[in-house]
Amino acid sequence: MMKPRARIIGTGMYVPDRVVTNDDLAKRMDTSDEWIRQRTGIEERRYIEPGQQPADLASAATKNALEAAQLGPEDIDCIVLTTLSSQADFPGTSFFLQDQLGLSDTPCFDVRAQCSGFIYGLAVGNGFIHSGMYRRVLVVGCEVHSTGIDISDEGRDVAVIFGDGAGAALLEANDDESDDSGLLEIRLHAEGKFAKKLWIEAPGSGFWPVRINHELIDERRHFPYMEGRFVFKHAVRRMPEVLLETLHAASLKLEDVDLFLFHQANLRINEFVMEQMGIPAERCSNNIQRYGNCSSASIPILLDEAARSGRLEPGHIVSMTSFGSGFTWASAVLRW
Ligand code: ACO
Repeated sequence: MMKPRARIIGTGMYVPDRVVTNDDLAKRMDTSDEWIRQRTGIEERRYIEPGQQPADLASAATKNALEAAQLGPEDIDCIVLTTLSSQADFPGTSFFLQDQLGLSDTPCFDVRAQCSGFIYGLAVGNGFIHSGMYRRVLVVGCEVHSTGIDISDEGRDVAVIFGDGAGAALLEANDDESDDSGLLEIRLHAEGKFAKKLWIEAPGSGFWPVRINHELIDERRHFPYMEGRFVFKHAVRRMPEVLLETLHAASLKLEDVDLFLFHQANLRINEFVMEQMGIPAERCSNNIQRYGNCSSASIPILLDEAARSGRLEPGHIVSMTSFGSGFTWASAVLRW
């Protein structure tokens, strides 16, 4: 019997209502709308309101995905939540989401692969479905960056790029041999040698005798640190590499792809990659202009926007590619 292939049967997204423009940030740090647009393409991003929690975002995105699939929370066999900005150091975010969905014993856990998290999460969900362990797996990318960035002159290089948001995709086993929709191939990579080029150091269990103290905070080591140019150079090399590796594994060519979805770290990174690979702008979708970099939520938000705008038709080939902290890079290709 053919092993079931995972297909996406519903997508959803949620971003907080609070819009933060580049001019808003320029009131709080030495930056400008012109600098941010020119270097990153970002015009505005969303931040949570006081009282909003990561699981609220994940829950809203999940409800939209379930509605699209015409299913309820009880139809989910397993929840995989991807994040680098956990609601709590442990147990993470997925458990709060599970509770908010009104579920009491559905397995759930967090996957930590930063901006590549959603594609890593798809690989986990795909594996569960392929093995026959679960039939429906929810994969949710959820990030709240706004409470973890340094909104001051010292943190301006990183702070301007991040936004809050969540995106969800519900995977289901497709064992209908006449239906060729679903995930075709996924490839994952990582290079820990560069973990410290883009990271948040504290709180960390490597600090002794406590994970966080006033000194670490005074040294601003609880804020993200990024060697921007170094990261940029690796992103523009690794994304084409893994995209082509994945297409090759699926016996597809660049021309076969109807829609390319790249991680939304910086519009200039994506433009560079597209130019290098000869991908025309109309076959690519970006939303960093409106939401900034939502790390593991960026790709599922893009996917949901594409699905709801009618841009995706049955049979379309979609390629998703990411690069981020770890370093991690990954690509997935699916038939819609
Ligand atoms: N506003 C104004 N000036 C700024 C800002 C700002 N927000 N940030 C930095 N500058 C200044 C710097 O101080 C520097 O000034 P100097 O020339 O007087 O020293 C100048 O602008 C250039 O700084 P760079 O850091 O070299 O700027 P760069 O052109 O590299 O752009 C950026 C910075 C946008 C962050 C870019 O490096 C980038 O996008 N890198 C990759 C990001 C990425 O892919 N991250 C991975 C995903 S995120 C994740 O995984 C968590």
